[in-house]
Amino acid sequence: MPTWHRLGTREELSAKVPFAIKLDRQQMALFLHEGRFRAIGNRCNHQGGPLSEGRVRGEFVMCPWHAWEYSLVTGKGPPGYEAESVPAFAVEEREDGVYVDSDPISPRRLVRHDPHPLTVVTPRPSGGPPRVLGISTTAMDSENPRFSTSDFLLDAGLRHAAQALVAETRLLRLRDLQFRACEGNYSKAAHACTWPCAITERDPGDQLTPVYEGLVQWADVVLIATPIRWGQASSLYYRMAERLNCVQNQVTLHNRILIQRKVAAFIITGGQDNVQGLAGQMLTFWGELGFLFPQFPFIAHTRGWDAEDMEVNVRQVRTSDHLARAAAELAERSVDLWRVLDRHRADLDKPMERSGRKAQPLERPHQPAEV
Ligand code: FES
Repeated sequence: MPTWHRLGTREELSAKVPFAIKLDRQQMALFLHEGRFRAIGNRCNHQGGPLSEGRVRGEFVMCPWHAWEYSLVTGKGPPGYEAESVPAFAVEEREDGVYVDSDPISPRRLVRHDPHPLTVVTPRPSGGPPRVLGISTTAMDSENPRFSTSDFLLDAGLRHAAQALVAETRLLRLRDLQFRACEGNYSKAAHACTWPCAITERDPGDQLTPVYEGLVQWADVVLIATPIRWGQASSLYYRMAERLNCVQNQVTLHNRILIQRKVAAFIITGGQDNVQGLAGQMLTFWGELGFLFPQFPFIAHTRGWDAEDMEVNVRQVRTSDHLARAAAELAERSVDLWRVLDRHRADLDKPMERSGRKAQPLERPHQPAEV
C-alpha cells in the first residue's frame, strides 16, 4: 500500500538536493539525477554512513565514510556488487509538486561477509607462558642498516624475556611493514572510525595487521621502543599511533575494551632531550588504549640537547651493562605485573566504563534483509 508524501516543488527541491529526510521511519536520501529526482535509503549497509553526504559519480553515490557505492536508480551496488543494496523509493512529479512513496520498491539487502579475523577477540586461558611483543619504531634503510640504540635495548629486553622469564616473544619492526597513514575517518564522524580499521578491511596490501593482531589478540606485554626525533617519538611511531585510533574509539563508541589485562612499557633513546615529555605522552596514549604499566614504566638514554656527537651515544649504549640490565628489568617488571593480573582475572573481568567521553549514537539501517 503506497504512502505518498509531498516533498515540495521542483524548484524548492532542486535548491536542496542532495538531502536526507525521515518519513515513516524510513531514512531516505534525495538526489537529482539526469533531470529526475531519485530516492534511496540514506544509511550505508557497511557501517551506516550517510549517503546523502556522499559524492555522486554518474549513476552511483559513494558513501562518504569508506567509499561503498550504490545506484541512485536501483539502490544496488555497482557491477559485481549488485547483491548488496539499500532500499529504493518511488518518486513522482505531479502538477502540485514532487512526491515520494515511503514504502520501498526494493528492500535493503545486506550480503553476509565473513568476519575479518581481527574481529574475533578470544581471551586465552590463564596460566600460560607470558607473551611479550616488542615494537621497534625507528626508521632506517633495511638494506643498509645502522646501529639503533632503541633497537639494541629492545633486543636486550626481549632476550631476557625469552631466556630468563620463559616468555614467548615476537618482534615487529615498523620499518619492515608497508602501511598507510590514518585517513582521519574519525574526523568525518566518530562512527566512521571502525574496528577493524577501514583501511585494513579494504586494502589487502596494507601491512599493519600484525601490529593490530599482536596488540589486541596475541600479546600480554608490549615493549615499545622509539628514538627521540626533535623532542618527540619517531615518525613511524606516530603513523602507527594514529592508526590505533580505531582501538581507542571502540571504548568511546561501544565501551568495548579491546585491550584487557595487558601491560605496556617504553624504551626511549636519543641524542636530544625531552624524555619526560615523550614518556608522559606515551603513557597517556597507551593508557587510553587500555594498557596498564609496571612500576617505573620506561627506561631512557639521552645526553642532552647540546650533545650532537651521536657516535658517543652509540658507543655508550652499546657498551653499557647498566642500560642492558635496565631493559631486562623493564621486561621483568612488566611480566611480573602481567602475572599478577593473570592470577586475578576474575576480579578484573567485571564490567568497566571509561566514563567522561561520549559520542553521538548511530542510527543503524532499518531492519536489513540478509542475503
Ligand atoms: S562505506 Fe558506508 S559506512 Fe563504510
